Amino acid sequence: MDLERTLVLVKPDGVQRGLVGTIIGRFEATGMKIVGMKLMQVGEGLAQRHYAEHEGKPFYEGLVNYITAAPVVALCLEGPDAIAITRKLMGATNPSDAPPGTIRGDFGVEISRNLVHGSANADDAVREVGLFFSDEELIDYSRSNDVWIVSDEG
Ligand code: RTP
Ligand code: MG
Repeated sequence: MDLERTLVLVKPDGVQRGLVGTIIGRFEATGMKIVGMKLMQVGEGLAQRHYAEHEGKPFYEGLVNYITAAPVVALCLEGPDAIAITRKLMGATNPSDAPPGTIRGDFGVEISRNLVHGSANADDAVREVGLFFSDEELIDYSRSNDVWIVSDEG
C-alpha cells in the first residue's frame, strides 16, 4: 500500500468544545504521521475553494458560515491508506449515522456540527492539502533523527 497524505480539519465546534487533543489523539494513535499542523482562521475565499463541490446546495451558505466562524486546526496526515483510515475514524457525515467509537458518533449530534473534516479521495486530498499548506509547512521525516526519551547529550 502506497503512502497517502490527507487533509484533516478539526472544525470550529471541535476547537470551541476543547476536543482538539482528543480528536488529534485518535488519528495519532493509529500510527499515521502528522506532517503538517496549524491553528488558523479560515477566510471566506479559502472556505469557498475548499467546499466548491457543494456550491449551490441548500446547506452551502451555512457550511461556509460554520467553517469561517472560529478557528480550525488543520492537519496533514500521512500513512498507508491514510485517506480511508481517516474517514473510518471520523464516521458518517451525519453523527446520527456514525457508530460509537468514531469521532462523529462519540461527540456529535448534528450534521451541521460534525466536528471534523477528512479528504474524501486521492484527488481531493492533493487539492485540499495544497489549499491549506505550503510545501515548506509539510515535514519530511526522512530528514529527522530519532530522539525518543533519553538524550545522549549529558
Ligand atoms: P467533510 O467534507 O466535512 O469531511 O464531510 P463529508 O465528506 O462527510 O460530507 P460532505 O458531503 O462533503 O459535506 C460537507 C459538509 O457539509 C455539511 N453538510 N450538511 N445539511 C446537510 O444535508 C448537509 N450535508 C452536508 C456537513 O458539515 C458536512 O461535513
Ligand atoms: Mg466532504
